[in-house]
Amino acid sequence: MAKQIHMVVDDIIATQMKNPNEQHTLLAHMLGHYNPEDPGSISLQQIRNEIVVLLMAGHETTANTLAWSWYLLAEHPRVVERLHGELDSVLGDRTPGFDDVSKLPYTRAVFEETMRLYPPVPILSREAIGEDQIGKYHVPQGAQVVVSPWLLHRHRSYWDHPDHFIPERFTGEWSNKNIKYTYIPFSTGPRNCLGAAFGLTEAILCLAVLAQKFNPVLQPGHKPGYDCRLTLRPAGSLPMIARPRR
Ligand code: HEM
Repeated sequence: MAKQIHMVVDDIIATQMKNPNEQHTLLAHMLGHYNPEDPGSISLQQIRNEIVVLLMAGHETTANTLAWSWYLLAEHPRVVERLHGELDSVLGDRTPGFDDVSKLPYTRAVFEETMRLYPPVPILSREAIGEDQIGKYHVPQGAQVVVSPWLLHRHRSYWDHPDHFIPERFTGEWSNKNIKYTYIPFSTGPRNCLGAAFGLTEAILCLAVLAQKFNPVLQPGHKPGYDCRLTLRPAGSLPMIARPRR
């Protein structure tokens, strides 16, 4: 499996190296720092490893959440209206850039609320390095302990109207119970997500660019199902219609 992934990524790197004029990709930026004459520069193997991380840890998670966010938006016209209002007033017709991310709190809240309802990594597991006691449960050394963001994020004790899509929970307009560790889409502790800021930034920009121009509409009659593997994705496909706004 690892060999196959390396082959795919090496192929992508080779293609990019043959087209040095295509400069607008992250890979192109990394390759810009590669200098075969300088042993101190980043190596091709390091670049490959970075791309593998982006592909495996960074792509599925962000892409799946974006898919769920389109579905949720399609079902909640009130949220779409407010989202469009923010995008129109902050951006107008301008394409958003990195500096706009902090000016789009509602867009960010839409993504955060989507991760609450559809956490991209719905199950986290850890191996106990020693014996422990959690409440009434004894945990033997070596036991697999499972923590489920999916359950925590929808638990009635921690959230009001837990199954409702309410981005205002994340803008400060909704009084949350704010109980520690009940919202953990990026996990928590020393092995939490290294790419959280990167993932949020790219997701907010993606959402903004597309929502600026389109109204998401779910294909009539389609009922999405869940497919819970390592990540939580829509089962099969999630057919949507991108209806131009104007
Ligand atoms: C919405 C986007 C993302 C979500 C929800 C997410 C979620 C997570 C979660 C839950 C973990 C911990 C898994 C565990 O403890 O078992 C994790 C780990 C990790 N993530 Fe992300 N991730 C996202 C985007 C990214 C991106 C864009 C990158 C890279 C640029 C990235 C790189 C990593 C890495 C390297 C780890 C392993 C950290 C370690 O083991 O110390 N993630 N992520």
